[in-house]
Amino acid sequence: MKYADFYQRSIVTPEQFWQDESALITWDTPCMQVLDYSHPPFARWFVGGRTNLCHNAVDRWCATQGDKAALIAISTETNTERTYSFNELQAEVERCAAVMLALGVGRGDRVLIYMPMIAEAAFAMLACARIGAIHSVVFGGFAANSLASRIDDARPVLIVSADAGSRNGKAIPYKHLLDEAIALSSARPAKVLLVDRGLAAMELVAGRDEDYASLRAAHLDARVPVTWLESNEPSYILYTSGTTGKPKGVQRDVGGYAVALASSMKYNFCGKAGETFFATSDIGWVVGHSYIVYGPLIAGMATIMYEGVPVCPDPGIWWSIVEKYKVTRMFSAPTAIRVLRKHPPEFMRKYDLSSLRALYLAGEPLDETTSEWIAGELGVPIIDNYWQTETGWPILSIAKGVEDLPTRFGSPGVAMYGYQVKLLNESTGEECGANEKGVVVIEGPLPPGCMQTVYGDDRRFVDTYWSTFSGRQVYSTFDWGVRDADGYYFILGRTDDVINVAGHRLGTREIEESISSHANVSEVAVVGVEDKLKGQVAVAFVIVRHGEQIAAEAGRAALEREILGVVDHQLGAVARPARVYFVPQLPKTRSGKLLRRSIQAVCEGRNPGDLTAIEDPASLQQIQHVLQDCVSK
Ligand code: PRX
Repeated sequence: MKYADFYQRSIVTPEQFWQDESALITWDTPCMQVLDYSHPPFARWFVGGRTNLCHNAVDRWCATQGDKAALIAISTETNTERTYSFNELQAEVERCAAVMLALGVGRGDRVLIYMPMIAEAAFAMLACARIGAIHSVVFGGFAANSLASRIDDARPVLIVSADAGSRNGKAIPYKHLLDEAIALSSARPAKVLLVDRGLAAMELVAGRDEDYASLRAAHLDARVPVTWLESNEPSYILYTSGTTGKPKGVQRDVGGYAVALASSMKYNFCGKAGETFFATSDIGWVVGHSYIVYGPLIAGMATIMYEGVPVCPDPGIWWSIVEKYKVTRMFSAPTAIRVLRKHPPEFMRKYDLSSLRALYLAGEPLDETTSEWIAGELGVPIIDNYWQTETGWPILSIAKGVEDLPTRFGSPGVAMYGYQVKLLNESTGEECGANEKGVVVIEGPLPPGCMQTVYGDDRRFVDTYWSTFSGRQVYSTFDWGVRDADGYYFILGRTDDVINVAGHRLGTREIEESISSHANVSEVAVVGVEDKLKGQVAVAFVIVRHGEQIAAEAGRAALEREILGVVDHQLGAVARPARVYFVPQLPKTRSGKLLRRSIQAVCEGRNPGDLTAIEDPASLQQIQHVLQDCVSK
């Protein structure tokens, strides 16, 4: 089939198109209306239909391939490896669901999951889906303050966590962070369920903390039927960074998400039931939700959950997994591939990778060197795909399952079915022509699977995403892009203050707020600066309150360490800036707005752009001097 025709159908007759796609999943009750767009920009898909994500991911497959692998949990941190068949996964999910019910979790209640990459994390997500509870997974690399702000917003009745994660063989205790986060937050959960991996000591809070192993043992034979949910009931909340310091809770539905994932598994990832999918992300990010847990399982594939780094015990580890489990489709991020490229290719060449059909990369721009190297090594198509936490599945890519269109270097591809992608001129709001730079937007309604709203804050959903252009309600991705004459898009970076470090999306405002809490910090600006390995790194420019401390280099180094320690403690090492520079003033407009883009340009050796509004041009020169001083030392 021609992709152009397939795409056109999805845009011209979306209801017919998605009605057909909805047959890819199982419904308890078919929908009465495919799309309700009577209150734009809120789109309601498959209205009246009743389904369940856990049923589609697990139970449905038990009947036909119950003994086949469903979840393969591999940890090179604890040297453990275990395969759960669909039947075994179903039993574990039912036990976990029974435990949750016993702890008082009900339909519509929030359950916050703060877990390392262990099988129990997937059980907990699927158990929530099974009983209609709304999960909110928080990335295990986040620390107390990040966690506290998410607890405050989601107000969970239960938190599921573990004693520790592990990185490079070192245990990273979670429990004290969790206790601190709960103490900081104003919405205390009634119960905390803890998986004890035996990695770190835990002090249990009487009456609140529960041991998972004991409760699981008490519910070994539990049968918990799925709760059929109306398609538009929320399935989960996933927090993501934006322009403000307060993370946004991206809320997703049930039916639309299941259908979108099933379609993308068919047309984008071309996965077949019985095969193995390996996404190297983390369940704390959207890729982990869509393509570690739900997508592959909904397609009847085995999915791999990997705890560990890509280079331990050696840089061949991922490829050994591909060989051992005959992975057919693999999903990773450009940074991970750049890390692997630094090691001799022999680590990869010694494995039989003939099962692999394609490698999918997303989350950050894919550079030519990385793309060509990995394509040459693997001899399979490398498929870039561009999307966001908000959309849940690819906006731009090449849907090889529809038509084998060629990929084009530097471009994630063309608009995916269901997405009416446009480029608008930032100032005029007019549509851009070929090769003209504009803001990447999507004309409503957003297709199934995309965010329904900002959790608990419809206003914020409209104001944040749909109000960029006056007089025109379109969804803004906050990315710059261009499109060539053939409809291939090229992404040119964010229009807002979000940065992308090693494929991890971070808000500079959150990092600034954390740094500001240090007693000797008067003002701070954080910008994302280009980095060969990680794509971008965060760099902080700080004005101190008391200058004496930084008069000598030793004082500057000590203060930098302290500031980085604050970020580690509050947000987690993932948000730690690569450098902290001390400056006498920060470039601002006369109205007091920080000129982050000009600072960023100076850091990257580019022209800082239009400076007519700058209050004091010397401020940028001072930044230049500080950077030069550091380079020359
Ligand atoms: O700036 C774009 C960049 O990552 C942002 C979304 O990040 P996140 O919400 O974490 O979702 C990641 C889902 C894969 C986008 O606004 N981005 C994502 N994919 C690409 C990309 N930039 C360039 N090329 C990509 N393939």
